[in-house]
Amino acid sequence: MKILLSGATGKMGHMITDLLKSSEQHQIVAGFAAELGPDLPYPVYLDLADIDNPEQIDVIIDFSNPASLNALLDFGIKNNLPMVIASTGYSDEQEAAIKAASEKVAILHAKNMSLGVNVMQIMVEQLASMLKNFDIEIIEKHHRYKVDSPSGTAKMLFDAANKGRADSLHALNGRAGIYDGRNKNEIGIAAIRGGTIVGEHSVIFAGEDEIIEIKHNANSRKVFANGAIQAAEFVVEQPAGFYDMDDVLQKK
Ligand SMILES: NC(=O)c1ccc[n+]([C@@H]2O[C@H](COP(=O)([O-])OP(=O)(O)OC[C@H]3O[C@@H](n4cnc5c(N)ncnc54)[C@H](O)[C@@H]3O)[C@@H](O)[C@H]2O)c1
Repeated sequence: MKILLSGATGKMGHMITDLLKSSEQHQIVAGFAAELGPDLPYPVYLDLADIDNPEQIDVIIDFSNPASLNALLDFGIKNNLPMVIASTGYSDEQEAAIKAASEKVAILHAKNMSLGVNVMQIMVEQLASMLKNFDIEIIEKHHRYKVDSPSGTAKMLFDAANKGRADSLHALNGRAGIYDGRNKNEIGIAAIRGGTIVGEHSVIFAGEDEIIEIKHNANSRKVFANGAIQAAEFVVEQPAGFYDMDDVLQKK
């Protein structure tokens, strides 16, 4: 695959560049970013309109920022390019714009590209549905530079639990103050920020005298980069439509 890497100068951009450096199958042919970084082995563009040979691109992988979304969707639709959108922190309107664009080109959008977290999501939905009387809480931890909170993955895990409880739950982002007991339909989400933590997510199912806790640790950004490359290999073969990592897992 010939890849346009959006967010090329960022932490994830560098990880994907490193992973594909010696790949014989895949090649990054262009980067897109808000600022130029240290030398990369391909041209980096601040404006997608400056790419003079878009026809050489097979697929877009995006790890950038919600601010780049319109430019990315316009470019992808104009050039009929499948996309893996892995940035997080989108508004509801932006999520709707991604869905609308997927009617024209294939888009895989996932708040967490690691295969482990996507399996965890399936388990959380099942447990939430089987353990109806258990309280559910989510804790997520990330590095000090993360701009959005709670994390996209925490929201994804909330959605999975909510699906398991027939859409009866709501999220409470952070607890402070005095509560008159715990509302049984809420899921508290606590966001911890510090140091260089790559990403930790715990979902706690607390019942009477028993607790089940499911925890995922990302030890390096490689898990997201590898997942995004697998997602790109998948989406490049798909017709227009909206896909997520479940589709990649099911195809394996
Ligand atoms: N889905 C996942 O599994 C997953 C995993 C890790 C990170 N992320 C998300 O990916 C994104 C990038 O993460 P990071 O840690 O590499 O961030 P980073 O801050 O290190 O890098 C951001 C990159 O995006 C570029 N950028 C920012 N605004 C832009 C704009 N308006 N137009 C074009 N480019 C722009 C920057 O120039 C930079 O290259 C974040 O949204 C993060 O939450 C998702």
